Amino acid sequence: MKYHIIAFGCQMNISDSERVASVLESIKCKESPGINGADLIVVTMCSVRQSAVDRVHGLVEKFKTIRKSKPNIKTILTGCILKKDRNIFITGFDYVVDIRDIKKLPEILGIKKTKEAKNYLDITPKYSSKFSANVPIMTGCNNFCSYCVVPYAREREISRPAEEIIREIKNLIKKGYKEIWLLGQNVNSYKDTNINFSKLLKMINDIPGKFWIRFTSSHPKDFNDQVINALAIGKKITPYLNLPIQSGDDGVLKLMNRHYSVKNYKEKIKKLREKIPDIALSTDIIVGFPGETKKQFENTAKLFRNVKYDMAYINKYSPRTGTAAAKLKDNVSIAEKKRREKVLTEILKQTALEHNKKFIGKKIIVLIDGNKNNNWFGKNEHYKTVQIKSGKNILGKFIKVKITEALAWSLRGELIK
Ligand code: 5AD
Ligand code: SF4
Repeated sequence: MKYHIIAFGCQMNISDSERVASVLESIKCKESPGINGADLIVVTMCSVRQSAVDRVHGLVEKFKTIRKSKPNIKTILTGCILKKDRNIFITGFDYVVDIRDIKKLPEILGIKKTKEAKNYLDITPKYSSKFSANVPIMTGCNNFCSYCVVPYAREREISRPAEEIIREIKNLIKKGYKEIWLLGQNVNSYKDTNINFSKLLKMINDIPGKFWIRFTSSHPKDFNDQVINALAIGKKITPYLNLPIQSGDDGVLKLMNRHYSVKNYKEKIKKLREKIPDIALSTDIIVGFPGETKKQFENTAKLFRNVKYDMAYINKYSPRTGTAAAKLKDNVSIAEKKRREKVLTEILKQTALEHNKKFIGKKIIVLIDGNKNNNWFGKNEHYKTVQIKSGKNILGKFIKVKITEALAWSLRGELIK
């Protein structure tokens, strides 16, 4: 049987798909590069935004056409699915499978398994990259931010035993992996008996080898001094942090159920910058949350000017059924949401460029992750996109680059021979 996986959304979703692929390959299924050659299509869905859910509805329509010429094709929906969507999609897919139940795929497909099935987090994934690996350390979320569906779609937090995480990473380093992404909805609340996130970071940092450690996502309320110290000490932990603030206004933060204040957040950033002066910072923002006034939005713009982010993922609020915020009136017009997004993007463009200019003339290490017409692209430790020219195949390598030009969203440089 040939399978094809369609993944939507974040890195956690890609990681989910890598686990699905591994289970399918354990029952001798082979990957098909496109839908056309596949007998089995798996969709790893994301429920964070309605637009992603709408795309799954679009796929259901596409499957109807495919089934006309291929009546035996099987379709499976997994990933981040809401209960109410599960009931809706069961008519468009052959099977809807909870991501924590993917070990049951052989049984569901009626294929005999040769090995004992493992639980979701214990499955060794089929890594989609040969140099950068996604390693989930926890999954689920206990926070119930008022706008977010994740706690409903992925259920409560579970952490993976540290021993297993270390074993997986040691194996990856042996195989030559150069970048390890520690994943979780809230990595800061990682807990395995007496091992918390800062301890785990230290343990991973102590694994011999030349590699970079990155992680996502962090919740500011759980981001503490211990983690700051671990980042400062850990030479392999890259000087880049995504710390989603969501809003720069205390009133909005309260309605969002975020459990920190802007002052609180800024103090953490100050401490972080004292310990790691060159740290690159990014954040997630929601503009147009129900009731967000122009004045409250201005507080977010002020925060942007003040923190001077390197990058920000700016989202226009969209109500998600079942969440607490969905009960509030979505009263900021789409035009106003767009305006607020633009204001923040303009500030970000300036602060990002300001930070990027500091790299001009510097010699830095870049991990190359892609190419287009002899232009190679990669990321440096600060998670900046760097573009260089090379006739050689340098994919997946750490390359020394001298930076010659800074743009708002990227850097350009030349190979150092
Ligand atoms: N509307 C807009 N953005 C959202 N996010 C989560 N839920 C919503 C929503 N209902 C954003 C948050 C989060 C990111 C992954 O998606 O900013 O950090
Ligand atoms: Fe959603 Fe908040 Fe949990 Fe992040 S911490 S997944 S935003 S509920």
